[in-house]
Amino acid sequence: MTSRIRKVVFPVAGLGSRFLPATKSIPKEMLPVVDRPLIDYAVEEARNAGIEHFVFITGRGKGAIEDYFDHAFELETTLGERSKEWALKALSSTQLDHGSASFVRQQQPLGLGHAVWCARDIIGHEAFAVILPDELVLHERGCLAQMVDAWNQKGGNIVAVAEVPEPRVNQYGIVAPAADDGRIVEVKGLVEKPDPATAPSNLAMTGRYILCPEIFKHLQNQRKGAGGEIQLTDAMAATLGDVPFHGVRFDGQRFDCGDKAGYLAANIAYAMRRDDITPRLAELIPDLRTYKP
Ligand code: G1P
Repeated sequence: MTSRIRKVVFPVAGLGSRFLPATKSIPKEMLPVVDRPLIDYAVEEARNAGIEHFVFITGRGKGAIEDYFDHAFELETTLGERSKEWALKALSSTQLDHGSASFVRQQQPLGLGHAVWCARDIIGHEAFAVILPDELVLHERGCLAQMVDAWNQKGGNIVAVAEVPEPRVNQYGIVAPAADDGRIVEVKGLVEKPDPATAPSNLAMTGRYILCPEIFKHLQNQRKGAGGEIQLTDAMAATLGDVPFHGVRFDGQRFDCGDKAGYLAANIAYAMRRDDITPRLAELIPDLRTYKP
């Protein structure tokens, strides 16, 4: 078994219903934050964590994601002929090494756990990462790279966690914490979208996972959980006791781009870090001069 995290799974088959009608004909993962689609940030974060193989779990109507990471011959030739070097440079993040991307169709939207299970043959028997692209983390050192550091120390399963306001615990997978040093917290229980009245804490999983391959054994059961879906949280809970399990409170600002306000806040925060945009933006929206993301 390898002692590195080499592969990542991006579950991108979701319907994106919270962003309809925009997502009627565009995958939600292709919605831009400033000028790059959400999936581009996710791939960059994975690359920065040392990932070498990118597995996209797609579905009907998600062809734009596959095209995005393909060589665009006509576009690149035309830009070259017009000497638009800056535009060609902007495409560099869309180029993945040949053979380093796999696209698997999840034929039915049966849940996050089912989506991850669809990657089982490509992952094989090694620990791997999962990134949900609608969660963005703004930081110099990517969230997944921080988690890989924790995994090198602790092994087992690692999830990114962050405190959320109590009334919103029912939107997330929530962990029951044990030993806690303020950054790495031992996980003794997990529950998907609990009622705030019975939730074990307000420490939510924020869409980043490093998982042992044993997870596939539990996902195989295809048991339905919260919302009638096959939940990754339930399969992770089934591994408790068999493998070490920790949460990492990562450095960086998190934006839940599955939520409209979170998505818009991400656009502002990322734009405010861009010298080519900030002055003009502050001119248009003067209040932004005092905004600190
Ligand atoms: C999924 C996971 C949940 C996690 C959340 C993070 O839920 O099932 O455990 O906390 O992502 O955004 P979803 O947002 O797909 O309902």
